Amino acid sequence: MDSVQVYGGVPLCGKVRIQGSKNAALPVLAATLLTRESSTIYNCPKISDVDGMICLLKSLGMDVCWEEQGIRISRKTFRAKSMDAEAIKGMRSSLCLLGAILGSCGEITMEYPGGCMIGARPIDIHIAAFQKMGVAFSEVNGLLHASAKHLRGAEIELPFPSVGATENVILAATMAEGETFIRGAAKEPEVIALCSYLQACGALITGSGTSEITVQGGRPLYGTEFTIPTDRIVAGTYLFATVATGGCTLLEHAPVMQLDATIRVAEKMGAVCHICSEGLFVQAPERPKAVEIISTAPYPGFPTDLQSMALVTATLADGMTVIRENIFENRFRIVDELMKMGANIQMLNAGCARIDGVERLKGTTMTARELRGGAALLIAATAAKGKSTISGCKYIYRGYERIENDLRELGARIAGV
Ligand code: UD1
Repeated sequence: MDSVQVYGGVPLCGKVRIQGSKNAALPVLAATLLTRESSTIYNCPKISDVDGMICLLKSLGMDVCWEEQGIRISRKTFRAKSMDAEAIKGMRSSLCLLGAILGSCGEITMEYPGGCMIGARPIDIHIAAFQKMGVAFSEVNGLLHASAKHLRGAEIELPFPSVGATENVILAATMAEGETFIRGAAKEPEVIALCSYLQACGALITGSGTSEITVQGGRPLYGTEFTIPTDRIVAGTYLFATVATGGCTLLEHAPVMQLDATIRVAEKMGAVCHICSEGLFVQAPERPKAVEIISTAPYPGFPTDLQSMALVTATLADGMTVIRENIFENRFRIVDELMKMGANIQMLNAGCARIDGVERLKGTTMTARELRGGAALLIAATAAKGKSTISGCKYIYRGYERIENDLRELGARIAGV
């Protein structure tokens, strides 16, 4: 179902269970390539990006099977040369296969990874780090070729705490000879999840969650059972959906410890957020308050993946909010669609928007063009008065397991078309 119709204007109320984290699941699935024994991964979200990763793992010769509670993955035969080109091009996270395959067999030829069109998304940081580990790169018929005769540990300083580059180096480093020391590493919870999986398999990694990570390479890795943590971005999406619609929700199993910066923004908007044993309870204000400035930053800062949801909420706030995007240059692609709904947004420059809140948005016809922006449009339509039609929902399903059902259970009126 690529289009939905939303009859907006109903405050979201009730309980919703938060799914497993997409950004934690994808590198963990890639990491299963590094062990010859089988692993079972629990709480993996059933989303199209996970389907894409499973398809890639199968094309590499892995045996992957959804069981009742989780995904069981084991290595049958390994063929690094036959990956599905479309699956690679469609998904940025296929990039972490680079680290896992280099760790596994030292050589790979692959398409350049795709993913959401939220900026240029170069891979220079990944390449420079791998080169330090002895990997040589070339381009063959438009494909990326990487090979390491001898993958070795190295001291690597990342110029920016790239999540993907940190994960990629960790994956390759577990199989490299000697010690790898990463300075300037990303501190995101998804990096911690990857390290926890690898540690459970027998890897020696210290410092995950800090900017300095050390990996002792060359240890044998065994199979294990691992549970993917719940998704902080999905929890944040429903948090802003609650605030934008004036509702009251319980976000069951929300990873509250990872939501500090998000909860702080919601509280500034006037929400009452209460951490309880079941998760996060959110009570929206009658109308959201404007926040002087919301600035995205690497973890533990406010996540770029929730910027679009904060933007939608700010369009309905009482007063003026400024939102500064510091991670991806193309995260404001939903502004035109929101303006069609009656939002008052002025781009001060490509990375900074001034939003003067209006009392209501009105339903209209919109197109989702990327994952998080698409989810934000769905929230805007849920909060707006009248009927909206959103096409391009396939982007939203890349990361949300059951967003329409969840919103419907909270009272939203959404139908497939
Ligand atoms: C991951 C997340 C994504 C999130 C982002 C930042 C996954 C699957 N995706 O993406 O949802 O928004 O972290 O929290 O986990 N950069 C370079 N060169 C590189 C690598 C990155 O210039 O080689 C730039 C990017 O263009 C971007 C910034 O660094 O401007 C952050 O990118 P990075 O942290 O690598 O994000 P991803 O791992 O792609």
